[in-house]
Amino acid sequence: MELLIKGARVVDWSQDFYGDVYIKDGIIDEIGKDIKKDCKIINGQGKVLMPAFIDLHVHFREPGFTYKEDIESGSRAAVRGGYTAVNLMANTNPVCSNMEIINGVLTKGREVNLVDIHQVASITKDFDGKTISHIDSLDDRVRIISEDGKEVMNSNIMLNAMLKAKAKNITVMCHCENDELIEENTRLAENTMTWRNVTLAKYTGCPVHIAHVSTKEAMEYIIEGKKTGHKITCEVTPHHIALTDEVNYRVNPPIRKKEDVKFLIDCIKEGLIDTISTDHAPHTLEDKLKGAPGISGIETSFSICYTKLVREEGLSLNKLSELMSKNPSGIMGMNKGEIKIGLEGDVVLVDIEKQCEIEVEKFMSKGRNTPFSGMKFYGEILKTIKSGRIVYDNVEEEQK
Ligand code: DOR
Repeated sequence: MELLIKGARVVDWSQDFYGDVYIKDGIIDEIGKDIKKDCKIINGQGKVLMPAFIDLHVHFREPGFTYKEDIESGSRAAVRGGYTAVNLMANTNPVCSNMEIINGVLTKGREVNLVDIHQVASITKDFDGKTISHIDSLDDRVRIISEDGKEVMNSNIMLNAMLKAKAKNITVMCHCENDELIEENTRLAENTMTWRNVTLAKYTGCPVHIAHVSTKEAMEYIIEGKKTGHKITCEVTPHHIALTDEVNYRVNPPIRKKEDVKFLIDCIKEGLIDTISTDHAPHTLEDKLKGAPGISGIETSFSICYTKLVREEGLSLNKLSELMSKNPSGIMGMNKGEIKIGLEGDVVLVDIEKQCEIEVEKFMSKGRNTPFSGMKFYGEILKTIKSGRIVYDNVEEEQK
Protein backbone atom coordinates (compact mmCIF):
# COMPACT_ATOMS: atom_id res chain seq x y z
CA MET A 1 0.00 0.00 0.00
CA GLU A 2 1.35 3.40 -1.01
CA LEU A 3 0.25 6.95 -0.30
CA LEU A 4 1.74 10.26 -1.38
CA ILE A 5 0.80 13.53 0.28
CA LYS A 6 1.87 16.37 -1.98
CA GLY A 7 2.57 20.04 -1.46
CA ALA A 8 1.63 20.34 2.20
CA ARG A 9 3.30 22.43 4.86
CA VAL A 10 5.06 19.64 6.75
CA VAL A 11 5.49 20.38 10.45
CA ASP A 12 6.79 18.31 13.33
CA TRP A 13 8.81 19.23 16.44
CA SER A 14 12.00 19.93 14.45
CA GLN A 15 10.97 20.89 10.91
CA ASP A 16 8.62 23.19 9.03
CA PHE A 17 8.80 23.12 5.23
CA TYR A 18 6.66 22.79 2.09
CA GLY A 19 6.95 19.41 0.43
CA ASP A 20 5.79 15.84 -0.07
CA VAL A 21 5.67 12.76 2.14
CA TYR A 22 5.51 9.28 0.65
CA ILE A 23 4.37 6.33 2.76
CA LYS A 24 5.02 2.78 1.58
CA ASP A 25 3.94 -0.41 3.33
CA GLY A 26 2.95 1.62 6.37
CA ILE A 27 6.33 3.32 6.77
CA ILE A 28 7.49 6.85 5.85
CA ASP A 29 9.69 6.06 2.86
CA GLU A 30 10.55 9.41 1.30
CA ILE A 31 10.32 13.06 2.29
CA GLY A 32 11.14 15.86 -0.13
CA LYS A 33 9.94 18.05 -2.97
CA ASP A 34 8.38 16.97 -6.27
CA ILE A 35 8.23 13.30 -5.36
CA LYS A 36 6.57 11.42 -8.22
CA LYS A 37 4.86 8.06 -7.63
CA ASP A 38 2.17 6.12 -9.37
CA CYS A 39 -0.10 5.68 -6.34
CA LYS A 40 -2.94 7.31 -4.43
CA ILE A 41 -2.18 11.01 -4.01
CA ILE A 42 -3.56 13.44 -1.46
CA ASN A 43 -3.32 17.11 -2.43
CA GLY A 44 -1.92 18.84 0.64
CA GLN A 45 -1.75 22.34 -0.83
CA GLY A 46 -2.82 24.99 1.63
CA LYS A 47 -2.90 22.39 4.41
CA VAL A 48 -0.56 21.33 7.21
CA LEU A 49 0.72 17.77 7.57
CA MET A 50 1.79 16.85 11.09
CA PRO A 51 2.63 13.62 12.90
CA ALA A 52 -0.67 12.17 14.18
CA PHE A 53 -1.31 13.04 17.81
CA ILE A 54 -0.62 10.71 20.73
CA ASP A 55 -2.76 10.90 23.84
CA LEU A 56 -1.21 9.78 27.10
CA HIS A 57 -4.41 10.10 29.10
CA VAL A 58 -7.66 8.58 27.85
CA HIS A 59 -10.69 6.74 29.26
CA PHE A 60 -12.35 4.31 26.82
CA ARG A 61 -14.29 2.66 29.69
CA GLU A 62 -14.01 -0.93 28.45
CA PRO A 63 -14.57 -3.31 30.19
CA GLY A 64 -17.46 -2.33 32.40
CA PHE A 65 -18.72 1.09 31.40
CA THR A 66 -19.27 0.61 27.69
CA TYR A 67 -22.54 2.57 27.82
CA LYS A 68 -20.27 5.64 28.26
CA GLU A 69 -17.61 4.61 25.67
CA ASP A 70 -16.10 1.45 24.25
CA ILE A 71 -12.92 0.71 22.37
CA GLU A 72 -14.62 1.07 19.01
CA SER A 73 -16.43 4.37 19.67
CA GLY A 74 -13.36 5.69 21.47
CA SER A 75 -11.07 4.75 18.59
CA ARG A 76 -13.40 6.46 16.10
CA ALA A 77 -13.41 9.56 18.29
CA ALA A 78 -9.61 9.43 18.51
CA VAL A 79 -9.04 9.37 14.75
CA ARG A 80 -11.61 12.14 14.30
CA GLY A 81 -9.43 14.16 16.66
CA GLY A 82 -6.27 13.37 14.67
CA TYR A 83 -4.89 10.75 17.09
CA THR A 84 -3.42 7.37 16.16
CA ALA A 85 -2.19 6.24 19.59
CA VAL A 86 -3.87 6.35 22.98
CA ASN A 87 -2.95 5.34 26.50
CA LEU A 88 -6.02 4.02 28.31
CA MET A 89 -6.58 4.48 32.03
CA ALA A 90 -7.31 1.56 34.35
CA ASN A 91 -10.55 2.76 36.02
CA THR A 92 -12.64 0.15 34.26
CA ASN A 93 -14.77 -2.62 35.77
CA PRO A 94 -13.03 -4.91 36.51
CA VAL A 95 -10.07 -2.60 37.09
CA CYS A 96 -7.14 -3.25 34.73
CA SER A 97 -4.92 -4.95 37.31
CA ASN A 98 -3.79 -8.12 35.54
CA MET A 99 -2.54 -9.21 32.15
CA GLU A 100 -5.70 -11.15 31.34
CA ILE A 101 -7.90 -8.05 31.43
CA ILE A 102 -5.21 -5.92 29.80
CA ASN A 103 -4.77 -8.48 27.05
CA GLY A 104 -8.54 -8.40 26.42
CA VAL A 105 -8.36 -4.63 25.86
CA LEU A 106 -5.31 -4.90 23.60
CA THR A 107 -6.92 -7.67 21.53
CA LYS A 108 -10.10 -5.64 21.06
CA GLY A 109 -7.99 -2.61 20.10
CA ARG A 110 -6.26 -4.66 17.42
CA GLU A 111 -9.61 -5.93 16.10
CA VAL A 112 -10.96 -2.38 15.82
CA ASN A 113 -7.65 -1.54 14.15
CA LEU A 114 -7.84 2.23 14.04
CA VAL A 115 -5.31 3.40 16.63
CA ASP A 116 -2.48 1.91 18.69
CA ILE A 117 -3.93 1.05 22.06
CA HIS A 118 -1.77 1.02 25.17
CA GLN A 119 -3.34 -0.02 28.45
CA VAL A 120 -2.24 1.29 31.82
CA ALA A 121 -2.35 -1.08 34.80
CA SER A 122 -3.54 0.10 38.21
CA ILE A 123 -0.96 0.94 40.88
CA THR A 124 -2.85 -1.02 43.55
CA LYS A 125 -4.76 -4.20 42.73
CA ASP A 126 -8.40 -3.40 41.97
CA PHE A 127 -7.74 0.11 43.36
CA ASP A 128 -7.78 -1.35 46.88
CA GLY A 129 -5.22 1.22 47.98
CA LYS A 130 -2.85 -1.35 49.50
CA THR A 131 -1.93 -4.37 47.34
CA ILE A 132 0.95 -3.91 44.91
CA SER A 133 2.14 -7.51 44.39
CA HIS A 134 0.33 -7.64 41.00
CA ILE A 135 2.96 -5.22 39.61
CA ASP A 136 5.43 -8.16 39.62
CA SER A 137 3.29 -10.10 37.14
CA LEU A 138 2.83 -7.30 34.61
CA ASP A 139 4.67 -8.01 31.38
CA ASP A 140 6.43 -5.50 29.17
CA ARG A 141 3.29 -4.55 27.29
CA VAL A 142 2.58 -2.37 30.33
CA ARG A 143 4.77 0.73 30.28
CA ILE A 144 2.77 2.89 32.71
CA ILE A 145 0.84 2.28 35.93
CA SER A 146 -1.72 4.71 37.32
CA GLU A 147 -4.62 4.94 39.74
CA ASP A 148 -6.10 7.74 37.61
CA GLY A 149 -9.49 8.86 38.83
CA LYS A 150 -8.22 8.62 42.38
CA GLU A 151 -5.03 8.77 44.39
CA VAL A 152 -3.00 6.14 46.26
CA MET A 153 -3.45 7.70 49.68
CA ASN A 154 -0.94 5.65 51.70
CA SER A 155 2.51 7.17 51.10
CA ASN A 156 4.37 4.02 52.07
CA ILE A 157 2.39 1.99 49.52
CA MET A 158 3.10 4.64 46.86
CA LEU A 159 6.79 4.60 47.76
CA ASN A 160 6.99 0.82 47.37
CA ALA A 161 4.96 0.89 44.16
CA MET A 162 7.47 3.39 42.75
CA LEU A 163 10.36 1.14 43.74
CA LYS A 164 8.73 -1.84 42.02
CA ALA A 165 7.94 0.25 38.95
CA LYS A 166 11.48 1.59 38.75
CA ALA A 167 12.90 -1.94 38.83
CA LYS A 168 10.73 -2.80 35.81
CA ASN A 169 11.39 0.52 34.06
CA ILE A 170 7.71 1.40 34.33
CA THR A 171 6.51 5.01 34.68
CA VAL A 172 4.12 5.88 37.51
CA MET A 173 1.45 8.30 36.32
CA CYS A 174 0.02 10.23 39.26
CA HIS A 175 -3.48 11.56 39.75
CA CYS A 176 -2.60 14.11 42.43
CA GLU A 177 -5.68 14.67 44.57
CA ASN A 178 -5.66 14.17 48.32
CA ASP A 179 -8.99 12.55 49.29
CA GLU A 180 -8.60 13.73 52.87
CA LEU A 181 -8.56 17.38 51.84
CA ILE A 182 -10.82 17.42 48.82
CA GLU A 183 -13.92 18.48 50.76
CA GLU A 184 -11.96 21.26 52.43
CA ASN A 185 -10.21 22.67 49.36
CA THR A 186 -9.52 21.03 45.99
CA ARG A 187 -6.48 23.22 45.48
CA LEU A 188 -4.91 22.10 48.73
CA ALA A 189 -5.79 18.52 47.74
CA GLU A 190 -3.89 18.82 44.44
CA ASN A 191 -0.95 20.75 45.85
CA THR A 192 -0.20 18.45 48.79
CA MET A 193 -0.37 15.32 46.67
CA THR A 194 1.75 16.78 43.89
CA TRP A 195 4.38 17.70 46.47
CA ARG A 196 4.25 14.19 47.94
CA ASN A 197 4.51 12.44 44.59
CA VAL A 198 7.35 14.67 43.38
CA THR A 199 9.17 14.08 46.66
CA LEU A 200 8.71 10.30 46.37
CA ALA A 201 9.89 10.43 42.75
CA LYS A 202 13.06 12.19 43.89
CA TYR A 203 13.60 9.71 46.70
CA THR A 204 13.00 6.57 44.63
CA GLY A 205 14.39 7.71 41.26
CA CYS A 206 11.30 6.22 39.61
CA PRO A 207 10.11 7.89 36.38
CA VAL A 208 6.96 9.76 37.36
CA HIS A 209 4.44 11.54 35.15
CA ILE A 210 2.09 14.02 36.82
CA ALA A 211 -1.33 14.01 35.15
CA HIS A 212 -3.58 17.03 34.53
CA VAL A 213 -1.64 19.71 36.42
CA SER A 214 -3.98 22.60 37.16
CA THR A 215 -2.56 24.86 39.88
CA LYS A 216 0.41 27.22 39.94
CA GLU A 217 1.74 25.72 43.19
CA ALA A 218 1.55 22.13 41.89
CA MET A 219 3.45 23.23 38.80
CA GLU A 220 6.08 24.93 40.98
CA TYR A 221 6.71 21.66 42.86
CA ILE A 222 7.13 19.87 39.52
CA ILE A 223 9.55 22.52 38.24
CA GLU A 224 11.59 22.13 41.40
CA GLY A 225 11.67 18.35 40.89
CA LYS A 226 12.70 18.74 37.24
CA LYS A 227 15.48 21.17 38.21
CA THR A 228 17.08 18.57 40.43
CA GLY A 229 17.39 16.35 37.39
CA HIS A 230 14.79 13.78 38.31
CA LYS A 231 12.70 11.84 35.83
CA ILE A 232 9.57 13.91 36.34
CA THR A 233 7.31 14.75 33.42
CA CYS A 234 3.90 16.38 33.42
CA GLU A 235 0.88 17.13 31.29
CA VAL A 236 -1.81 19.76 31.04
CA THR A 237 -5.21 19.26 29.45
CA PRO A 238 -6.81 21.51 26.82
CA HIS A 239 -9.59 22.45 29.26
CA HIS A 240 -7.18 23.54 31.99
CA ILE A 241 -5.46 25.97 29.64
CA ALA A 242 -8.46 27.20 27.65
CA LEU A 243 -11.01 27.79 30.41
CA THR A 244 -11.06 29.62 33.73
CA ASP A 245 -13.23 29.08 36.78
CA GLU A 246 -15.84 31.49 35.45
CA VAL A 247 -16.98 28.41 33.52
CA ASN A 248 -18.87 26.10 35.83
CA TYR A 249 -18.20 22.56 34.57
CA ARG A 250 -17.39 19.54 36.74
CA VAL A 251 -14.02 17.96 36.05
CA ASN A 252 -11.24 16.62 38.28
CA PRO A 253 -9.11 18.51 39.01
CA PRO A 254 -11.37 21.56 38.68
CA ILE A 255 -10.99 24.39 36.17
CA ARG A 256 -8.82 26.96 37.93
CA LYS A 257 -8.31 30.71 38.15
CA LYS A 258 -7.01 33.03 35.44
CA GLU A 259 -3.64 33.29 37.21
CA ASP A 260 -3.17 29.51 37.18
CA VAL A 261 -4.01 29.31 33.48
CA LYS A 262 -1.55 32.09 32.69
CA PHE A 263 1.17 30.39 34.72
CA LEU A 264 0.61 27.04 32.97
CA ILE A 265 0.74 28.68 29.54
CA ASP A 266 3.98 30.46 30.48
CA CYS A 267 5.36 27.09 31.57
CA ILE A 268 4.42 25.58 28.20
CA LYS A 269 6.32 28.41 26.49
CA GLU A 270 9.34 27.79 28.70
CA GLY A 271 9.36 24.07 27.90
CA LEU A 272 8.49 23.02 31.45
CA ILE A 273 5.38 21.07 30.47
CA ASP A 274 5.98 17.87 28.53
CA THR A 275 2.65 16.96 26.99
CA ILE A 276 -0.88 18.00 26.30
CA SER A 277 -3.15 15.08 27.15
CA THR A 278 -6.91 15.18 26.86
CA ASP A 279 -8.06 13.18 29.92
CA HIS A 280 -10.86 12.18 27.52
CA ALA A 281 -13.56 11.22 30.04
CA PRO A 282 -16.85 10.40 28.33
CA HIS A 283 -20.02 10.21 30.44
CA THR A 284 -23.71 9.93 29.65
CA LEU A 285 -25.93 12.96 30.16
CA GLU A 286 -27.60 11.13 33.03
CA ASP A 287 -24.28 10.45 34.79
CA LYS A 288 -23.21 14.03 34.21
CA LEU A 289 -26.41 15.29 35.82
CA LYS A 290 -25.59 13.07 38.81
CA GLY A 291 -22.23 14.85 39.06
CA ALA A 292 -19.78 12.62 37.16
CA PRO A 293 -16.57 14.62 36.58
CA GLY A 294 -14.97 14.82 33.17
CA ILE A 295 -14.95 16.08 29.61
CA SER A 296 -15.20 14.17 26.35
CA GLY A 297 -12.18 15.85 24.82
CA ILE A 298 -10.32 13.78 22.26
CA GLU A 299 -12.20 15.19 19.25
CA THR A 300 -11.67 18.84 20.12
CA SER A 301 -8.18 19.05 21.59
CA PHE A 302 -6.18 20.07 18.52
CA SER A 303 -8.41 22.96 17.52
CA ILE A 304 -8.62 24.24 21.10
CA CYS A 305 -4.85 24.04 21.64
CA TYR A 306 -4.00 25.40 18.22
CA THR A 307 -6.34 28.38 18.67
CA LYS A 308 -5.37 29.09 22.25
CA LEU A 309 -1.64 28.41 22.15
CA VAL A 310 -0.53 29.06 18.59
CA ARG A 311 -2.92 31.75 17.35
CA GLU A 312 -3.48 33.59 20.61
CA GLU A 313 -0.29 32.96 22.57
CA GLY A 314 2.24 32.80 19.73
CA LEU A 315 3.53 29.29 20.42
CA SER A 316 5.11 27.67 17.36
CA LEU A 317 3.37 24.83 15.60
CA ASN A 318 6.63 22.90 16.13
CA LYS A 319 6.20 23.19 19.87
CA LEU A 320 2.56 22.14 19.72
CA SER A 321 3.60 19.09 17.71
CA GLU A 322 6.22 18.25 20.32
CA LEU A 323 3.59 18.46 23.09
CA MET A 324 0.98 16.43 21.21
CA SER A 325 3.14 13.86 19.39
CA LYS A 326 6.87 13.63 20.08
CA ASN A 327 6.91 13.89 23.87
CA PRO A 328 3.95 11.60 24.62
CA SER A 329 5.51 9.04 22.29
CA GLY A 330 8.73 9.16 24.32
CA ILE A 331 6.94 8.81 27.66
CA MET A 332 5.02 5.80 26.31
CA GLY A 333 8.30 4.25 25.12
CA MET A 334 7.38 4.43 21.43
CA ASN A 335 9.39 5.57 18.48
CA LYS A 336 6.93 7.79 16.64
CA GLY A 337 5.47 11.28 16.78
CA GLU A 338 7.81 12.67 14.10
CA ILE A 339 7.82 12.85 10.32
CA LYS A 340 10.99 10.94 9.64
CA ILE A 341 12.02 8.25 7.16
CA GLY A 342 11.68 4.79 8.68
CA LEU A 343 8.97 5.71 11.19
CA GLU A 344 5.37 4.51 10.93
CA GLY A 345 3.27 6.53 8.51
CA ASP A 346 0.98 8.03 11.17
CA VAL A 347 0.17 11.57 10.07
CA VAL A 348 -2.67 14.06 10.19
CA LEU A 349 -3.69 16.64 7.61
CA VAL A 350 -5.19 19.80 9.08
CA ASP A 351 -6.64 23.05 7.81
CA ILE A 352 -5.38 25.67 10.24
CA GLU A 353 -7.19 28.52 8.51
CA LYS A 354 -10.64 27.05 8.90
CA GLN A 355 -12.71 28.03 11.89
CA CYS A 356 -15.23 25.43 13.06
CA GLU A 357 -17.94 25.27 15.66
CA ILE A 358 -17.82 22.39 18.12
CA GLU A 359 -20.93 20.38 17.41
CA VAL A 360 -21.48 17.52 19.83
CA GLU A 361 -23.97 15.90 17.43
CA LYS A 362 -21.01 15.12 15.18
CA PHE A 363 -18.97 13.43 17.95
CA MET A 364 -17.99 9.82 17.35
CA SER A 365 -17.56 9.44 21.11
CA LYS A 366 -20.58 8.24 23.04
CA GLY A 367 -19.84 11.05 25.50
CA ARG A 368 -21.12 14.44 24.47
CA ASN A 369 -20.10 16.03 27.74
CA THR A 370 -18.15 19.15 26.88
CA PRO A 371 -18.19 22.76 28.02
CA PHE A 372 -16.88 23.73 24.56
CA SER A 373 -20.12 22.93 22.72
CA GLY A 374 -21.08 25.76 20.38
CA MET A 375 -17.70 27.49 20.68
CA LYS A 376 -15.62 28.20 17.58
CA PHE A 377 -11.96 27.29 17.13
CA TYR A 378 -9.48 27.32 14.28
CA GLY A 379 -7.94 24.10 12.99
CA GLU A 380 -9.97 21.38 11.36
CA ILE A 381 -8.82 17.77 11.14
CA LEU A 382 -9.18 16.78 7.48
CA LYS A 383 -7.61 13.32 7.33
CA THR A 384 -6.00 11.01 9.85
CA ILE A 385 -3.63 8.45 8.41
CA LYS A 386 -2.49 5.35 10.32
CA SER A 387 0.40 3.39 8.80
CA GLY A 388 -0.39 4.89 5.40
CA ARG A 389 -4.11 4.02 5.62
CA ILE A 390 -6.74 6.77 5.80
CA VAL A 391 -8.63 5.99 9.02
CA TYR A 392 -10.56 9.26 9.19
CA ASP A 393 -11.66 11.37 6.26
CA ASN A 394 -13.44 14.61 6.99
CA VAL A 395 -14.51 14.93 3.36
CA GLU A 396 -16.65 11.83 3.76
CA GLU A 397 -18.19 13.28 6.93
CA GLU A 398 -19.05 16.53 5.15
CA GLN A 399 -20.75 14.61 2.32
CA LYS A 400 -22.99 12.58 4.62
O1 DOR B 1 -12.65 14.50 35.52
C1 DOR B 1 -12.13 13.40 35.53
N1 DOR B 1 -12.77 12.30 35.07
N2 DOR B 1 -10.90 13.27 36.05
C2 DOR B 1 -10.34 12.07 36.24
O2 DOR B 1 -9.23 12.02 36.69
C3 DOR B 1 -11.09 10.85 35.94
C4 DOR B 1 -12.09 11.06 34.90
C5 DOR B 1 -13.08 9.93 34.71
O3 DOR B 1 -12.67 8.77 34.73
O4 DOR B 1 -14.25 10.23 34.48
